[in-house]
Amino acid sequence: MAAWRVSLATLCLLSLFLVRTTALDADHDAWDAWVATCLPAQPADSGARLRAGVQGGGDEDDVMATPLRPREMAAMHRVLRQDAKRQDMANRVLHILGHRPDRLAHCSVVFLVNFMPDADLDALKPSFVAENVRGALRARKTFHWASLAPLPVFYNDVLPYASLTEPRDPWRPKLFEFMREATSGCLDAVCAALALNSHAWEIVDPPIIFVAAKPDELNSYSPFQTMARHNASCTGLSVFLVDALRAAGVPSRIAGVPHWNKGVTVCPGGDADAPCGNHNWVEVFVDGGWHFLDQRGAHNELDRGWFFPADTNLQVPAGKDGAQTNHSIFSSSWAPGEVLLKLDPHAYASFSPFSHFPMVWDWAARSVPAWESVAFYHRGRKGRAAPGLADAMDSFDDLLCDDGFACADEEEAKSDPAPRRIKTFNKATALTISCESWT
Ligand SMILES: *[C@@H]1O[C@H](CO)[C@@H](O)[C@H](O)[C@H]1NC(C)=O
Ligand SMILES: *[C@@H]1O[C@H](CO)[C@@H](O)[C@H](O)[C@H]1NC(C)=O
Repeated sequence: MAAWRVSLATLCLLSLFLVRTTALDADHDAWDAWVATCLPAQPADSGARLRAGVQGGGDEDDVMATPLRPREMAAMHRVLRQDAKRQDMANRVLHILGHRPDRLAHCSVVFLVNFMPDADLDALKPSFVAENVRGALRARKTFHWASLAPLPVFYNDVLPYASLTEPRDPWRPKLFEFMREATSGCLDAVCAALALNSHAWEIVDPPIIFVAAKPDELNSYSPFQTMARHNASCTGLSVFLVDALRAAGVPSRIAGVPHWNKGVTVCPGGDADAPCGNHNWVEVFVDGGWHFLDQRGAHNELDRGWFFPADTNLQVPAGKDGAQTNHSIFSSSWAPGEVLLKLDPHAYASFSPFSHFPMVWDWAARSVPAWESVAFYHRGRKGRAAPGLADAMDSFDDLLCDDGFACADEEEAKSDPAPRRIKTFNKATALTISCESWT
């Protein structure tokens, strides 16, 4: 009798295990179908191809312009079938996009909807999502550099209509027109990224400027809110610039720290002290790899900003269970990092998947997937500089006294063309200022 009970229990456990692994396999197969259908000529090393001047767009985009075969469509849609709301959203969006959307459109809809935050599924209309997809596809067709971005990077860092938890705006058409004009002299994505970091702000008159927010104040304004205010703090400026870049087909996302890790001498009261406040900035995928931009910063160059490398070098890995979350560096994502590393191991090689993008103004939020990016910023350390970050490292000493922000004295400040930088020079505090807490 006892033996019979034991084997019954084993059988139950075994069947539970089987049901569970079958469900996981189903997820896995369904996603494999999306990958097979939506990344036709999956490059082993897209970054190297780009650096070598091989165009990622051409052939790939010809394939992506073909319609899906019914069998492919059925296989791909299995990924949504586990979630009735997502399936319904995708079907409605596809219906709006027309009778037979091409492969890229179809793949974009399934990717976007599959990884949409739950709150958006309830709040957004299918027409909003459809317009966003149309706008992203138009950007990929219009801008030469946009079609060179690897497809996984397009899906994750151009296609999404939002970065964090900011209100959702239909910004594509308005930003597209303006940003096309602002990048009209550009032949590549580096030029486009820098042109937009200089000129995107002029979409309203007077242009959008930096104004610090109080610590922990809700500051992830939507692009239309920032345009209406003509100002925002670092987070609002980052959200706006990411959308401006995406409107022009430049892959981009938000990076940031919950708190600067300056230690007890600078912040005796802990993270709540102003110099240990949060900061956000922008990352772009250009020239075959990720680089950062100091939004509306004093020096409009890739991989140069007042916080790098001195402040970023003090940040630490988030650690097991995120014990050091407050003092790490993160980059936002649409899909979870684990998924993206499989889609394009090269493009995301310097980043580790993290459960969520921490936002000090909404600390409990878990809706934004993220990368932990400390390794990427620490590459500039000890002469082991990565290409691009090397120059910034060389000019580190200059940076402290050459950055308009850190070193503007009162006279310079008055004539500073970038009014957000006006701050009386004080070397000790200039190095410890953080965006949200600087008042
Ligand atoms: C920023 O915008 C807000 C809202 O429109 C306004 O009240 C405030 O005066 C602006 N700040 C500056 C410095 O322009
Ligand atoms: C991390 O920062 C958040 C937001 O400022 C704060 O609420 C939390 O207490 C901090 N956690 C630790 C361990 O200091």
